[in-house]
Amino acid sequence: MKKVLMMTGSAGFIGSNFVKTICCREDVKAQYDFVFVDALTYAGRKENIQKELDTHSHLTFIHADIRDSQKMHELFKKYNFDGVLNFAAESHVDRSIESPNIFVETNVLGTLNLLKESLAIFEKKPSFKYLQVSTDEVYGTLGMEDAPFTEQTPIAPNSPYSASKASADLLCRSYFETFKLPVVITRCSNNYGPLQVEEKFIPLMIKRALANEPLPVYGTGLNIRDWIFVDDHNEGVWAAFTQGHAGEVYNFGGNSERQNLDVAKLLLKHLGKPESLIQFVTDRKGHDFRYAIDYSKAQKELKWSPKVRFEEDGLLRTIEYYRNLWAK
Ligand SMILES: NC(=O)c1ccc[n+]([C@@H]2O[C@H](COP(=O)([O-])OP(=O)(O)OC[C@H]3O[C@@H](n4cnc5c(N)ncnc54)[C@H](O)[C@@H]3O)[C@@H](O)[C@H]2O)c1
Repeated sequence: MKKVLMMTGSAGFIGSNFVKTICCREDVKAQYDFVFVDALTYAGRKENIQKELDTHSHLTFIHADIRDSQKMHELFKKYNFDGVLNFAAESHVDRSIESPNIFVETNVLGTLNLLKESLAIFEKKPSFKYLQVSTDEVYGTLGMEDAPFTEQTPIAPNSPYSASKASADLLCRSYFETFKLPVVITRCSNNYGPLQVEEKFIPLMIKRALANEPLPVYGTGLNIRDWIFVDDHNEGVWAAFTQGHAGEVYNFGGNSERQNLDVAKLLLKHLGKPESLIQFVTDRKGHDFRYAIDYSKAQKELKWSPKVRFEEDGLLRTIEYYRNLWAK
């Protein structure tokens, strides 16, 4: 019999790519039905996955909010899920600095709602599994000479966003330690690719460059991010869900540490625009300096490694996607 999974945040950037590349794969489709739950905030666009919803009968979309405990209770009761993949979150650091409450409500309390309902099912169905999509930002920041984050790096979040994600991770951990709920947590570096909301760094830079408008780069532009193509991340999430060990954390990274300024320059080069479009703006408050990921555990235990190369492949595909979208 097919299993039924709840997947939250399915209309967002990473979630909608997951729908396309993982949920619609023949081997996955043969084994699982998916119930997508998304509140369709400013970051969620149902049209991202409408084609898949129209063409695949194993996919169901429900417009619902993970903060709504009553609704979550109804859904868990109705579908008696075999597992949960929780992608839903408020995800933008700048917004968390301006308006932190919603980050705690969705990322922490929403996650708690899912954990509580998951536990009720797990008590009757021991094969139940829960996967929490988290971020490397829970580890805090690194200096130039520091070793990359491992799963053993103590969490030390610096922004309200990363604090809310770390809090959710701790709740997940507590449900494993206290109740033995089979929870797996994934922590990933910065994703890039199609279908991202244009307030995020790479689509924002492309949109501005295409319109010949200034590209706002925080501070000196020397902050470093590790970039991972969204499909590589999603392969990792699926590997962690299907093969990961309960109670474990798995890091995923893209092997592509770059200064923000260098990424902006690369985008301008590929778009044939001058570097004079770069405009340095007041730095983000508490801006983490560097993120870098050691993903050797995922490599060893899940046989996972990133496949898409940043300059040679992923960035070009991403530019092409947004150019087609906006250069009209
Ligand atoms: N984007 C990255 O670089 C990155 C890196 C590491 C981890 N993550 C994590 O991956 C996950 C997905 O990130 P993303 O970039 O796709 O985010 P996103 O902001 O693009 O999408 C979030 C999705 O969650 C939905 N959502 C928000 N609040 C909700 C609620 N209360 N109930 C139900 N749905 C709700 C939104 O409508 C949207 O569809 C998040 O958990 C994020 O923390 C993101």
